[in-house]
Amino acid sequence: MNIVIIGGTGLIGKQLTRLLEQAGHAVTPASPSSGVNAVTGEGLDAALAGAQVVVDVTNSPSFEDEAVMHFFRSSTRHLLEASARAGVQHYVALSVVGSERVPDSGYFRAKVAQEALIRAGGVPFTILRATQFHEFLMPIAQVNTEGETVRLPSAPLQPIASADVAAALADVAVQAPANGMLEVGGPEAVPLDALIRRVFQARQDAREVVTDDQARYFGSRIGKDTLIPGPGARLGAITVAQWLG
Ligand SMILES: NC(=O)c1ccc[n+]([C@@H]2O[C@H](COP(=O)([O-])OP(=O)(O)OC[C@H]3O[C@@H](n4cnc5c(N)ncnc54)[C@H](OP(=O)(O)O)[C@@H]3O)[C@@H](O)[C@H]2O)c1
Repeated sequence: MNIVIIGGTGLIGKQLTRLLEQAGHAVTPASPSSGVNAVTGEGLDAALAGAQVVVDVTNSPSFEDEAVMHFFRSSTRHLLEASARAGVQHYVALSVVGSERVPDSGYFRAKVAQEALIRAGGVPFTILRATQFHEFLMPIAQVNTEGETVRLPSAPLQPIASADVAAALADVAVQAPANGMLEVGGPEAVPLDALIRRVFQARQDAREVVTDDQARYFGSRIGKDTLIPGPGARLGAITVAQWLG
């Protein structure tokens, strides 16, 4: 198949490109560094010429509320319009499990807006929602750090290896469009406070993790189901311990 990966130079995009090439597909990774800017639309028509599948694994350089909303709205509109012009048969996008359950976060509101545009866009689609990547655990800790203390709730996360996300996306990209949403999560749910303690121990990070169930996750309170995928989710194989090891 002829597959274009928008954001093909990113954490997921690089691994997805490799997997799809290994499976024998013609893959074009595209991003601003190769002259393709989804936010402005620059280079999209040329990049999508002849594409059967488009996979959007871009991410916003800024997580500030207005900037991230502008990024996902503008890039998704341009990508859908260019996909329709090119006759793309399957539009795949990566989103986050539980996005609508984290309404006080501008980032999650932007992901919900991205998903709504895709549903209404008229191009056959699949939205794959993933849980938090292992690589994202340190940034989560950083946001809640004050001095040498990190205050975190005990609500669970079900983190996943980026390699498992890329593998799930590689399968989705060559299947028929679901015209709906699928979920993928890590193999185990772990309270966020305990999870970051584990990461700190393995990384010899001296910061103290204080359990605080009033502490927010990117501005929102989270509970036991907020960031956990539903019963039908595909599960990755790589555990946090394996990733840390
Ligand atoms: N982090 C998590 O825990 C998590 C969990 C679930 C889902 N997700 C989703 O996963 C997706 C991919 O995340 P990631 O960590 O792989 O991202 P990443 O490593 O930050 O990579 C972002 C990619 O987007 C490209 N890009 C940036 N601005 C662009 C633009 N204007 N036009 C086209 N491409 C642009 C970058 O290109 P350059 O290299 O040229 O700058 C890069 O290839 C995101 O949509 C995110 O919401 C993340």
